[in-house]
Amino acid sequence: MAQKIFSEYFYNKISYLGAALSLVMFVVEGILFAMDFLTPSTNSYLSLFTYVVLPPILIIGLLLIPLGALKKKRDVRLGRVSDDRETFTFDLANAAHRNAAVAFIVITVIFMVMTAVGSYKAFNYTESVPFCGTTCHNIMKPEYTAYLKSPHARVKCVECHIGAGAGWYVRSKLSGARQVVKTLLNDYARPIPVPVHDLRPAKDTCEECHWPGKSFGAIELERSYFPGEPGAISRWDVRMLMHVSGKEGENRGIHAHMNSDHVIYYAADDEKRQQISWVKSVNKKGEAVVYMTKEAAKKQFNPSPANIRRMDCIDCHSRPSHHYEAPMPLVNRAMAEGKINPGIPLIKARAVEVLAAKYASEEEAVTRIRSVLSAYYKEKQAEYYNAHRNEVDDAIAYVVELFKSNIFPEMKVRWDVYPDNIGHMISPGCFRCHDGEHNASSGKTITRDCGVCHAIIAQGPADNMEKSVDGLPFRHPFDGDESWKQMNCADCHSGS
Ligand code: HEC
Ligand code: HEC
Ligand code: HEC
Ligand code: HEC
Ligand code: HEC
Ligand code: HEC
Repeated sequence: MAQKIFSEYFYNKISYLGAALSLVMFVVEGILFAMDFLTPSTNSYLSLFTYVVLPPILIIGLLLIPLGALKKKRDVRLGRVSDDRETFTFDLANAAHRNAAVAFIVITVIFMVMTAVGSYKAFNYTESVPFCGTTCHNIMKPEYTAYLKSPHARVKCVECHIGAGAGWYVRSKLSGARQVVKTLLNDYARPIPVPVHDLRPAKDTCEECHWPGKSFGAIELERSYFPGEPGAISRWDVRMLMHVSGKEGENRGIHAHMNSDHVIYYAADDEKRQQISWVKSVNKKGEAVVYMTKEAAKKQFNPSPANIRRMDCIDCHSRPSHHYEAPMPLVNRAMAEGKINPGIPLIKARAVEVLAAKYASEEEAVTRIRSVLSAYYKEKQAEYYNAHRNEVDDAIAYVVELFKSNIFPEMKVRWDVYPDNIGHMISPGCFRCHDGEHNASSGKTITRDCGVCHAIIAQGPADNMEKSVDGLPFRHPFDGDESWKQMNCADCHSGS
């Protein structure tokens, strides 16, 4: 009988299987490691296999070896199989034993180094943008697409969604593991519900890079609007200064909400925090002012502490990195930038219409948008189309691009599902509180004064604008309609 270097118990089918599995995995991992180190660009699937999927299989293989031995030992003890083991001897003078020992030590060391490097790479990999954004590509496609064109395209997902510290790291990995299971079971909500309840307070994420004490003064905003129907005015421009920050020591300006000398709390009536009927502002001295809508005041509404939220950055900047734009502003901007020629008859109305329609999938949307728009121009605007074929085709192609980067039918993601709270035009935003309907018992009202948050410094038809550095009273574009004085913008404007 050949000399055996391991205990007889190890010579069984389960241990053989384990040894074979680990050997194969070991070689495969070695090759993948080398590939990952030697190729300059990281492929997220390669990393996923190398650092997340395969190592557990290798470990299972290794575990099978002693498990097989234990089982055999038990079987021998119970008399199920005959005891054919030999006493284990190890003799350094024996060349075969010496070689086996050296081989064992070398393989163990290589394995440990690979495990260490592997764990580190696994850590880095699961923290990386490709992991969050592309591994489950269909699910995160909307967030990832919007992220890539946001000002935060160089900020890692984890810097806003997890932040620093071991506690949040573990919490996020547990919640991440749950999400992986849900993904595999195809059991997840479409759209993904917001607010994200595990989102860390902005103090530990946004404020790692931006701080509220930093004064911005004013920021200039420029908007161009194009009429839906041809009329006397072909383009209306508005330029305004956003009063982001007040003067030193003054409790004014938009970011005064974030000043340490007064803190704002609110209670929302709905899950998405779009309706707010109770607001409390507390100053440094601890003096509180409570503002309520008429209905809330009538029933002496008193929210439960669990429903009260301290206002922070994301109550205004709700879409800092995943901004899904509505058809109206999208088409306005495309026209202002010359991507869509504003001279094409009725292009704004038609483009907004096809962007806002509901589709079951992106594929269907792309086909429908192309066919509906080309049919319209070929049939209803044949004369214009024949003279400006390229222009119209380019516009149609661009509308398709706009759709693909802002609307995601598979995940049911659109501008009206994830409202941006930064303004008040197509979702209530600031007017959730600043609608002039939130009053304190003292008679004080949360202001709806158009001049408080911004000053319009120029407005009107692009070739004939009125201008003033002191701020102009708002004129409703194109029709001069005055209903905005009584009604909120979002009552009429839905973005489509
Ligand atoms: C600048 C900070 C920031 C970065 C960077 C960021 N997010 Fe977000 N994310 C947010 C905020 C804020 C929300 C909205 C939370 C809320 O409303 O409760 C959000 C929401 C989400 C949601 C919920 C659905 C939705 O669209 O609102 C998902 C999913 C998500 N982010 C994934 C990602 C992925 C994947 C990345 C990286 C590719 C990423 N995020 C990068 C700040 C960020
Ligand atoms: C890791 C650093 C980092 C974190 C964390 C971060 N940001 Fe930023 N943010 C930046 C940088 C850098 C820019 C400037 C990008 C530029 O100028 O193009 C920026 C730009 C912005 C802007 C200006 C956007 C614009 O349209 O010009 C806003 C608003 C903003 N961040 C809000 C937030 C909010 C809210 C959070 C938390 C949810 C956050 N940021 C988290 C680094 C960060
Ligand atoms: C009350 C609502 C509100 C809150 C709360 C708020 N912001 Fe802002 N912030 C604004 C508005 C409005 C602007 C002007 C720019 C705009 O309209 O997009 C702005 C501008 C900014 C800018 C500059 C953008 C640029 O283009 O330079 C940054 C950065 C920023 N905010 C970060 C933050 C951070 C970080 C917090 C939390 C500490 C915060 N904001 C809290 C409303 C708010
Ligand atoms: C949750 C309610 C709430 C929301 C949402 C909100 N605010 Fe306010 N805001 C307040 C309250 C309350 C005050 C008055 C603070 C006080 O009582 O001292 C205030 C005051 C202000 C002021 C100072 C007003 C003055 O008289 O000088 C500005 C500017 C402002 N907000 C801008 C904004 C902007 C811009 C947005 C949207 C991006 C916004 N707010 C959203 C509650 C809110
Ligand atoms: C509480 C602060 C606040 C008040 C009050 C306010 N606005 Fe605004 N307004 C904003 C913010 C913030 C934006 C959006 C900036 C952005 O899009 O980044 C905005 C945007 C606008 C725009 C550009 C809209 C767009 O999306 O193209 C117009 C026009 C405008 N406001 C008019 C008004 C008028 C008219 C009033 C008075 C009825 C008013 N605002 C009152 C904060 C305010
Ligand atoms: C009674 C309904 C109504 C209200 C309220 C209203 N609007 Fe409008 N608005 C319209 C209509 C209708 C048009 C289209 C006019 C056209 O294209 O000829 C329009 C057009 C506009 C446009 C240019 C079109 C575009 O491409 O976006 C802007 C900007 C605008 N409104 C801003 C506002 C603001 C800001 C408020 C709130 C202060 C407001 N509107 C309130 C009905 C309304």
